[in-house]
Amino acid sequence: MQIERGPTKTLISMASLFLLLFLPHLFFLQSTEAAAATSAGSIVFTTLGRSRYSFDIFSLSIASQFDSISLSQETQLTDGVSVNFNGFFPSSNTILYVSERNGTHHLLLDLLPSIEQVTLPPHSVFADSGKTRFDLTPHLSPVSMKDRPSLSGENLIYVSTHVPSSSPRKSWAGVYSTHISTLHTKRLTPDVVADFSPAISPSGYWTVVASLSAWSREVEELNTDLYLFRTSDGSQRTFIEHHAGWPCWADDSTLYFHRRDESGWWGVYKAVLSVTGDLISLISVNRITPTGFHAFTPAASPGLPGVVAIATRRPDSKYRHIELVDLRNEGNYSYIEVTRTVNPLSHHYNPFISPDGSRIGYHRCRGGSNGNPPLLFENLRSIAPEEFSLFRFDGSFPSISPDGKHVAFVNLPGVYVANTDGSGSVREIFSGNAFPTAWDWKREGVIYTSYGQEFASESTKVDIISLYIGNNNAETVIKKLTTGGNNNAFPSPSPDGKWIVFRSGRSGHKNLYIMDSSKGEFAGLYQLTEGPWTDTMCNWSPDGEWIAFSSNRDNPGGDGFAIYMVHPNGTGLRRVVYTGEGGRANHPIFSPDSKKLVFTSDYAGVSAEPISNPHHYQPYGDIFTINIDGSGIRRLTHNSYEDGTPAWTKYFLEPKDVSESLKGSAFCGFDDCHWLNVEARQNKIGGTSC
Ligand SMILES: *[C@@H]1O[C@H](CO)[C@@H](O)[C@H](O)[C@H]1NC(C)=O
Ligand SMILES: *[C@@H]1O[C@H](CO)[C@@H](O)[C@H](O)[C@H]1NC(C)=O
Ligand SMILES: *[C@@H]1O[C@H](CO)[C@@H](O)[C@H](O)[C@H]1NC(C)=O
Repeated sequence: MQIERGPTKTLISMASLFLLLFLPHLFFLQSTEAAAATSAGSIVFTTLGRSRYSFDIFSLSIASQFDSISLSQETQLTDGVSVNFNGFFPSSNTILYVSERNGTHHLLLDLLPSIEQVTLPPHSVFADSGKTRFDLTPHLSPVSMKDRPSLSGENLIYVSTHVPSSSPRKSWAGVYSTHISTLHTKRLTPDVVADFSPAISPSGYWTVVASLSAWSREVEELNTDLYLFRTSDGSQRTFIEHHAGWPCWADDSTLYFHRRDESGWWGVYKAVLSVTGDLISLISVNRITPTGFHAFTPAASPGLPGVVAIATRRPDSKYRHIELVDLRNEGNYSYIEVTRTVNPLSHHYNPFISPDGSRIGYHRCRGGSNGNPPLLFENLRSIAPEEFSLFRFDGSFPSISPDGKHVAFVNLPGVYVANTDGSGSVREIFSGNAFPTAWDWKREGVIYTSYGQEFASESTKVDIISLYIGNNNAETVIKKLTTGGNNNAFPSPSPDGKWIVFRSGRSGHKNLYIMDSSKGEFAGLYQLTEGPWTDTMCNWSPDGEWIAFSSNRDNPGGDGFAIYMVHPNGTGLRRVVYTGEGGRANHPIFSPDSKKLVFTSDYAGVSAEPISNPHHYQPYGDIFTINIDGSGIRRLTHNSYEDGTPAWTKYFLEPKDVSESLKGSAFCGFDDCHWLNVEARQNKIGGTSC
């Protein structure tokens, strides 16, 4: 829940034309040097679902006979620390995976202790070191995203976002190769495109990727094409097939991939190549899985010929499961359940098969009884540790009290307060559907929010309320500050405690208004912005000079949002962040010194195929800061999730994790991609972007 929807129809008025023509057009410079640290503090934000992922990699062994396949019990392969996912078997007793432990992204390789006959990857780094875990990317920025690792000989191939792209909304995801003993690293993706989901051919010679040349804000299926290139240096880049993702190799001339067909079903396809030296051509493409259920993220192995692993969403299950498709009996493919018989009520993601065909792996939530509790504040590596510490918070719209001791947040439906040091229990202060949260700067224990439906039209009944929470056990005193319910929302108080800026749909359009903070609109109202578009998500600067907000006035009625600032007296309007037509920049919040903004945006595009993750309405959301003059943009988060609703407090919260106490069932509380829901697809009620 991070982006406000615009109105469905608007007119372009003279006023908006004026703004379109005369507003200063500020363009982004490529990622610039951090300005001198001026403000110690902390940035806290939300990632949809991620605080409850608790992913680990699990596996079953496969016994394949001439005409049958059997599977053993499930074993957990990773250690239950943080989030471990997107595995790869370099051999049947080593596992390579992505781990987000310690607030960073690392590619780790573990020697599996449970397996006696250890055959190391043919590599000196692993021999006789006495270690059982190797960090294969110690040389890359710990902040950047690393994903989809695979290993062939001495070449580690993976996706990384450590190099900024050349323009706003172009993904930073590129495929890299690191020589694991020298750590010599090469980019294999041309600068002008983004590559996802790399897979090395069994011989190691070729790598296949899903490549994106232009992103038009797809949030379900990316419009990727398959390309091959030489693993050694990225040369001989060759187009293979349009509209295809998540490729894998069965042998050096057979690929599987997924795509969504015109009727909306995801299916797995087989591509046969002709390979003569460096000359590659596509001979045939055939669909393997039928319509009627979704099949995607295929995996194959030369050790298990004629079998492909897939993830499915079938109409008779609400869960994503792993299956094997036995293709060996031409004309009568059979499907073998891998996970549904083991854990029917859990989602399972992104299968992979060992090179000898003896193991299948995937990741799933490890559950509540097995591992560490979720984190209320998850400390992430800050790009400017002197200036701010950075935290992912388990709840949306976090805001820190003026004394730094409490955090208010939303967990729909309901508003809660917790101590920032994790002590005590979480207190529900309002049980209705309300968003966001903002503390009064002067009156202790007063929190503003808006009560009603989020993402709703101008006429929806939403009103601003203040919540006085008093002492620990006192009942919340609720005061309504607006009337009429014309979608009055996003209150932000002035630093002197006297005023509130908010957005209201009372004119038929969502614009900004200012009212008295204790008497509300009954004591009068001042309209700050006016026009047939949406101005929303306003924030009053700590020095009182500015109000930042998000607006679609560049294209009224459109779903693109840019960040603007205006003085509280209505002068000085200017645009600060714009990521292009239809782009997204939302939820601006001032730094404690009022010189920067933190916000969420699609500035860095998407970083992975969305179907490989649980649900994120807006998988392009990352957190950025920018100077209020529009210079010095910095990317704080690198991931394929939906990051949003940031807060910036002047208090420096110690850069360490703060746990929460939760009942077991809440540990895995996140959704699979909503648009895979079979009923939603059939009724055509799914399939919309945000
Ligand atoms: C964890 O991160 C801190 C810095 O935030 C670093 O000093 C420490 O070495 C890291 N630990 C591991 C095990 O990577
Ligand atoms: C297809 O294979 C299954 C077992 O794998 C068998 O039970 C079934 O009879 C076969 N169907 C046909 C039409 O051959
Ligand atoms: C409006 O407010 C700004 C910032 O406080 C101030 O610099 C400016 O002089 C004011 N303009 C008017 C017309 O009051």
